[in-house]
Amino acid sequence: MKVLRLLALVLLLLAPCTLQARWIKDKVLYTVADASNVEFSHYRHLEILGNNCPSCHNDIFHIVTAKNPETTMKAMEEGKSCGVCHNGTKAFTVADNCDACHAQ
Ligand code: HEC
Ligand code: HEC
Ligand code: HEC
Repeated sequence: MKVLRLLALVLLLLAPCTLQARWIKDKVLYTVADASNVEFSHYRHLEILGNNCPSCHNDIFHIVTAKNPETTMKAMEEGKSCGVCHNGTKAFTVADNCDACHAQ
């Protein structure tokens, strides 16, 4: 079953990315110990990026979430994880705008 699900996902990722992606879950919650939690919205990003799954998967974030290490802000400022885009060029930078991602 797990293999089938992965296969289906791989096929989907290879398909032209014009499809409506409402079957995936929207919010991904990052619990952050020493700052407030971060809620990532799939739907919002798909709206902005035009339903383009490969812009994140699997180079930046693996869909098998266990393969994604916890990241630090320092690593993001150096262009990892969210920081691939949130660098002040493609999107607002992680070096600032803390409350755009962290609720408080
Ligand atoms: C802007 C980046 C971005 C885009 C674009 C994106 N995702 Fe994701 N996706 C993420 C992040 C971040 C996670 C969470 C990773 C983690 O928890 O370690 C995730 C997780 C997932 C997961 C695993 C969810 C879980 O809880 O196990 C699936 C499945 C997934 N994405 C599918 C898709 C599909 C299909 C598309 C295109 C329709 C897509 N994603 C587009 C960033 C993105
Ligand atoms: C683009 C969204 C985004 C912005 C902007 C952002 N963060 Fe984060 N931050 C995250 C995410 C996501 C995590 C959790 C990463 C993980 O667990 O893999 C995190 C984790 C953290 C952590 C815990 C890990 C560490 O680096 O010690 C702290 C503290 C933190 N952020 C502070 C800040 C501060 C201060 C700012 C503003 C200067 C900021 N963040 C801006 C998304 C963001
Ligand atoms: C593939 C590029 C890409 C990645 C990776 C990415 N983002 Fe974004 N994100 C964008 C773009 C583009 C925007 C909109 C541009 C802007 O507002 O500067 C955006 C906007 C946002 C917004 C504002 C949403 C709104 O409603 O306006 C938040 C919050 C956010 N991202 C959080 C995150 C977090 C947290 C991560 C990592 C888990 C992440 N993003 C990873 C490209 C990306």
